[in-house]
Amino acid sequence: MPEHTYTRVGFFSGEKIPLEMHKARMVQRLYLRHVKERRQVLSAAGNNTFLLPNRDVYLDMLTDSGVNAMSEAQYAAMLMADDSYAGSETFYRLEKTVGEFFGTRHFLPAHQGRACENILATAFVTPGSWVVTNYHFTTTKAHITRLGGSVHEILKDEGLSAQSSDPFKGDCDLAKLADFAEGEGKGKIAFVRIEAGTNLIGGQPVSLANMREVSEYCRRKNLKLVFDASLLADNLYFVKTREASCAGRALADIVLEMASLMDIIYFSGRKLGCARGGGMAVSGREDYMKMRDLVPLFEGFLTYGGMSVREMEAMNVGIRETLDIDTISQTPIFVEALGEALLDKGVPVVTPLGGLGCHVDAMRFIPHVPQEQYPAGALAAAVYLTAGVRGMERGTLSEQRKPDGSESLSSMELVRLAVPKRVFTLSQIKFVADRLGWLYRHRDLIGGLEFEEEPKTLRFFLGRLRPSGPWQERLEEAFLKDMPSGL
Ligand SMILES: Cc1ncc(COP(=O)(O)O)c(C=O)c1O
Repeated sequence: MPEHTYTRVGFFSGEKIPLEMHKARMVQRLYLRHVKERRQVLSAAGNNTFLLPNRDVYLDMLTDSGVNAMSEAQYAAMLMADDSYAGSETFYRLEKTVGEFFGTRHFLPAHQGRACENILATAFVTPGSWVVTNYHFTTTKAHITRLGGSVHEILKDEGLSAQSSDPFKGDCDLAKLADFAEGEGKGKIAFVRIEAGTNLIGGQPVSLANMREVSEYCRRKNLKLVFDASLLADNLYFVKTREASCAGRALADIVLEMASLMDIIYFSGRKLGCARGGGMAVSGREDYMKMRDLVPLFEGFLTYGGMSVREMEAMNVGIRETLDIDTISQTPIFVEALGEALLDKGVPVVTPLGGLGCHVDAMRFIPHVPQEQYPAGALAAAVYLTAGVRGMERGTLSEQRKPDGSESLSSMELVRLAVPKRVFTLSQIKFVADRLGWLYRHRDLIGGLEFEEEPKTLRFFLGRLRPSGPWQERLEEAFLKDMPSGL
């Protein structure tokens, strides 16, 4: 695989531009609705960007999950899928690739990342047990708590500071790990979990050095270490470009070392491998056997695990393409372009710019909206109203209420503008920055949200909310004054 072409090209003008190392050969028609129509659509969607129909969305920046652009090699491989319930050749090809990629002995397929979490939690979490993690992810936590377990976070303090220059904000704090493991959690830890590319704190990576330290501790204390590798591609890019000791190492070699430090690895194939599916890689026979029997129960037979064979073929190629730096650089360099354009306009974003997407800091954008009125949710609604752009709330709305019904206020209130791999052009990125710059100037107009309909679990997916007051009408009016076309 070629090493990092785009950084070596350079622009004669000196301008810093994220250069695409691919070309578009199939496209999807997009529509940008009038601001009046956008307000109606938003209201019909209960002010929840998950409930917006895609036909009314200009740029879908909700997630990078299952919406990355696939390569021609992935599409070609899909035509060669072996469609059988048991013993599919497609499965054996994927099993071999995962085994070589992680250096692991066994592969268990599952239909997506949270299905792996269900199996992991069912196998290892018992009532009263703890999962210790750098930071929780929504679905991970939901599966753990569903089974009577709890989550304890050991993220280093800097991880939660929205403005920082720390290159590895996803790192664990070893002292916090030891304190908990030898104190409250003693004898009750189901497993320790490291999440690559830490999603909820702004796509922030974990260093290889930190993985080594955590692994060394876990092995010494006989604790099981689980690696959520869903966002490994971004994390790998940052380890290669930010961690001096990794600069000269092959990506394949770095992945093998990371994997060798873990006991169980799982991933969402909607992210890692740019397809749709998931899986678990494991070497230990005992762990494998404990999880294996749950796959046919929840997912499907062991040689497909709920995935379509076509997606498994695409994932097989996509995982191998993760070892090409010019492929995995595409999200981080476009996130950087968007983040820097926003920072130029004064828009507060999480720094350093991470993977996955650009994360706008709602606490600093609209400090006048209290957390009980879901500032990140309100800002995500305002972004759609202003730009036809669908982002995702990552704040208090994404939390579960405490058992007594009170709000669990999130440490951060972020609007994630995801940058799926190879999907958007630089002009679209500039459009987003332009509209957010406008919104920032009119930030005083933005108000909060309140629940109209609140589901008990993972409420951010299906919950319906209404604006607290007529702020959306005022925002629309101001927009029309500056952009009379309404677009
Ligand atoms: C870090 C992490 N873990 C797990 C998941 C769950 O994966 P899936 O959406 O495939 O169920 C996600 C999805 O966004 C994720 O980002």
